[in-house]
Amino acid sequence: MRTQLDTVVGAALQQGSAVPAFTCYDFTTALAVVGAAEESGRGAILLVAPKTAATPNGLRLIAALRGLADAAGVPVAVQLDHASDPQVIADAVSAGADSVLVDGSSLPYEDNIALVRGVRAALAAQGRADVVIEAELGGLAGDEDRAFGTGAADSAGSTAADGPAGLTDSALVEDFVSRTGAQLLAVAVGNVHGKYKGEPRLRWDVLQDIAVRTRIPLVLHGASGIPPEELVKAAAMNVGKVNFNTELRTGVLAVLEEQTTAHRADGENLQALLGRWDSSARAFAATALATLSR
Ligand code: 13P
Repeated sequence: MRTQLDTVVGAALQQGSAVPAFTCYDFTTALAVVGAAEESGRGAILLVAPKTAATPNGLRLIAALRGLADAAGVPVAVQLDHASDPQVIADAVSAGADSVLVDGSSLPYEDNIALVRGVRAALAAQGRADVVIEAELGGLAGDEDRAFGTGAADSAGSTAADGPAGLTDSALVEDFVSRTGAQLLAVAVGNVHGKYKGEPRLRWDVLQDIAVRTRIPLVLHGASGIPPEELVKAAAMNVGKVNFNTELRTGVLAVLEEQTTAHRADGENLQALLGRWDSSARAFAATALATLSR
């Protein structure tokens, strides 16, 4: 069923839970995520990567996800992830995205604020002031679509060897939230996109410092590889949305690698192979939903 992303996240936080968000490059994965959400009786978020949304087929995928979300038996939001191109944002919203992560985290601070405000104004002009905006303060190292071992930033504004990254500067949080009007805030607290180089080390001191400075829900990107008990701990510190991508891909690719030969031999049985894909993604989503639920 249709929901506002901030509503479903706020409701989860009130129960000490968080809502998982899963990157969907395809409809099979989205069906599995929504199926798992319905089985658990809890809401979920379907993420669309900006590279997906920047293509005509990506916009058709968003339209299909919109239909899937609206027909679901639980609240499901469709979010354009990590977007900074105003045209891609406008097109994705027209196609059916109900929320956007406006990602100016690689920009200087004032430019990040200006980007979020500009998108907000453009959406209002598009007649879509209802679109929920997440903004990001502090940058995550790593690639959003391809997983390589990445080390996290170790201080505010510092640059990791693998790309622009810096822990969220908690002193800026109140100013950033009030000037952007963001409804959710993505934070950099030692999390990375893709695979962690070594053990993930979340900076609980930084997260705590952020959590006391704003009432809007926080978002933890790069959840793949973070132990479940740490995700639960984060949810108790106002992290209401947790983004997964890499681990879901790892599972699906492993199943395809293992099963393709047998399904070829079984009369090119693509239908059954897609069933295996569904089972893998569904199991992953079910585990994430259970982990984050109180
Ligand atoms: P991972 O690929 O590290 O799980 O990160 C997903 C993410 O943050 C999507 O926005």
